[in-house]
Amino acid sequence: MKENNIAIAIDGPAAAGKSTVAKIIAEKLSYIYIDTGAMYRALTLKALNEGINMEDKDAIVGLLMNTEINLKQSFDGQMVLLDGLDVTKEIRYQDVTTRVSYVAKHAPVRTEMVKRQQEMAKNRGVVMDGRDIGTHVLPNAEVKIFLVATVVERAKRRYEENVKKGIASNIEILKNEIEERDRIDSNREASPLIKASDAIEVDTTSLSIIQVAERILDEVAKVKGPK
Ligand code: DC
Repeated sequence: MKENNIAIAIDGPAAAGKSTVAKIIAEKLSYIYIDTGAMYRALTLKALNEGINMEDKDAIVGLLMNTEINLKQSFDGQMVLLDGLDVTKEIRYQDVTTRVSYVAKHAPVRTEMVKRQQEMAKNRGVVMDGRDIGTHVLPNAEVKIFLVATVVERAKRRYEENVKKGIASNIEILKNEIEERDRIDSNREASPLIKASDAIEVDTTSLSIIQVAERILDEVAKVKGPK
């Protein structure tokens, strides 16, 4: 571990701004950024392509054991490789988004994903975002953040993101989809979405991304000392 390099865990519900803020923090600190949701999305995409039922736990775990998922740092964040193929865009498609929570609720899938994620983060100097980072993946992370925002605000942000990407969407549908994912992620038996007891909760509803990033960097400075 490089001296003074730490692990930063950022958790929270769907569309709370985790990845945008995590990327900014990683860039500021020259840390690696790991978006763990992308790994569950990549597995979901493969299951879809192979016609596997997302509720079929054994089939999904079997698939994961024969699947290579690599996250590569790229100039705008992270590139996702599924068995060597670039699926960075495909994993954001609606088909994947509406199914990923069903894949992520299988306990053995989570055990394997957590193992892979811990291996990726073992050298510290890492910002990792997800749902169980502070509770399971990096329970010893030096900084743990739990981001929240109202569902209306999160749907609005996702809608605006889609507009920028030229993707047609509807706020009401986005709101329902976000609520449904929160419901499944929070109620599953295996490591549900929950704030770690030592995490700092930040409500981003009325904050800009830069304000959220600054708030987190303040916490980092408390641990690392000011630059
Ligand atoms: O952050 P995201 O929307 O890309 O995550 C996609 C899904 O993956 C989300 O519905 C819950 C699941 N997930 C998880 O269970 N644990 C993680 N560490 C990251 C994501």
